[in-house]
Amino acid sequence: MNRLSIEGGTRLDGQIRISGAKNATLPILAAALLADSPLTVGNVPHLHDVTTTVTLLRRMGVEVTVGERMQLEIDPGTLKECIAPYDLVRTMRASILVLGPLLAHFGEADVSLPGGCAIGSRPVDLHLQGLRAMGADIVVDNGYIQARCGRLRGAQILMSPVSVTGTENLMMAATLAEGETTIENAAREPEVVDLAKCLNQMGAKIEGAGSDLIRITGVKRLGGTHYDVLPDRIETGTYLVAGALTGGHVRLKQTRADMVQSIIEKLQEAGAEITSDQDWIELDMKGRRPLAVSVHTAPYPEFPTDMQAQFTALNAIAKGAGVVTETVFENRFMHVQELARMGADLQLEGNTVFTRGVAGLKGAPVMATDLRASASLVLAGLVAEGETLVDRIYHIDRGYECIEEKLSQLGAHIRRIPA
Ligand code: UD1
Repeated sequence: MNRLSIEGGTRLDGQIRISGAKNATLPILAAALLADSPLTVGNVPHLHDVTTTVTLLRRMGVEVTVGERMQLEIDPGTLKECIAPYDLVRTMRASILVLGPLLAHFGEADVSLPGGCAIGSRPVDLHLQGLRAMGADIVVDNGYIQARCGRLRGAQILMSPVSVTGTENLMMAATLAEGETTIENAAREPEVVDLAKCLNQMGAKIEGAGSDLIRITGVKRLGGTHYDVLPDRIETGTYLVAGALTGGHVRLKQTRADMVQSIIEKLQEAGAEITSDQDWIELDMKGRRPLAVSVHTAPYPEFPTDMQAQFTALNAIAKGAGVVTETVFENRFMHVQELARMGADLQLEGNTVFTRGVAGLKGAPVMATDLRASASLVLAGLVAEGETLVDRIYHIDRGYECIEEKLSQLGAHIRRIPA
């Protein structure tokens, strides 16, 4: 299994390009299943989760052509079966995103239940409830969601709690339903907006994406288009934290400050100077040690759960006491014990991590069991004395494109050690 070796202690300095957003790419690739003609998608990040989605589409018989710079062309016209098998779904929960499109376009879908995962139970009941309200007949048998329908009907759906992929699945299904669908308490994440923009370009009629009330008027058919995915706000936030943690100066290109306001505010509180324009963000820590901050995760536009672990790493070496409270997932603290092994002073109580910043961490062999937790260990490694060896980096490869190349470009001493 590949590992990352990091020699800490370098102040990051330089500029890098931010990749397309993983969490927008996955639903947009699934949305291709709604169309009658090929969809081409640009600014696609080269990530494990994207490869898994492509494998899943190909398994269904869909033709996917990978062009230059990861431009993907997806031709749903060759689809042979509407099945998402367990061996793929278990490696990527977001596979559930094919359920709505398959059902709406082909009237059937057999999708394996995702099951448990490293950050909590993560049910899909809201996806199923919404599709049932739209007239789908759904049974769960042998670990599979078996869904059938004629043409779906518009419905009034209330999401509680707010669910990102739930909103996306139902919004996609509703594009081909008969009549109007409303989704109340909809997720407002920028990736939901990006998906709605792509669907509208394909011929859908969606209003209100980005607010908590989305209105979809069903149409008879959708066609292909070309769509470029928006920048990854979590990758953006992670490299901003990398700059802050090391007292460095980083400039991130091809990204948008408006999507990361809650992250920028916390970094400013930590002492960072941040400037930005339409498509870049610059962070300058001027060599200072960050100040500890308190964060409380919640759905967009509040502070993202996907940045919680990285801020815990920041607090671990910051000046003062910090508090990080997780409210979205029940068990997202895999990084806490590993950071403690590197010398961090943290205490986990319920869903809150209390930290007392230490002046330095010590490199150690560490590993994590989810994507963002692994990223926080890489960040900690950047400031730790000596070598940090991060194991099980397939988690990182699920969500960060060329992480060692990008960090090297910023001056970090990091390399991949093949198994
Ligand atoms: C998405 C993101 C993930 C991010 C998360 C929260 C993708 C591919 N993944 O995950 O990176 O961490 O949003 O911002 O976009 N819930 C239910 N029933 C449901 C669905 C969800 O109770 O049917 C609960 C979950 O257990 C969780 C909360 O709702 O406590 C939010 O989960 P959700 O927004 O659905 O997360 P994902 O869409 O899976």
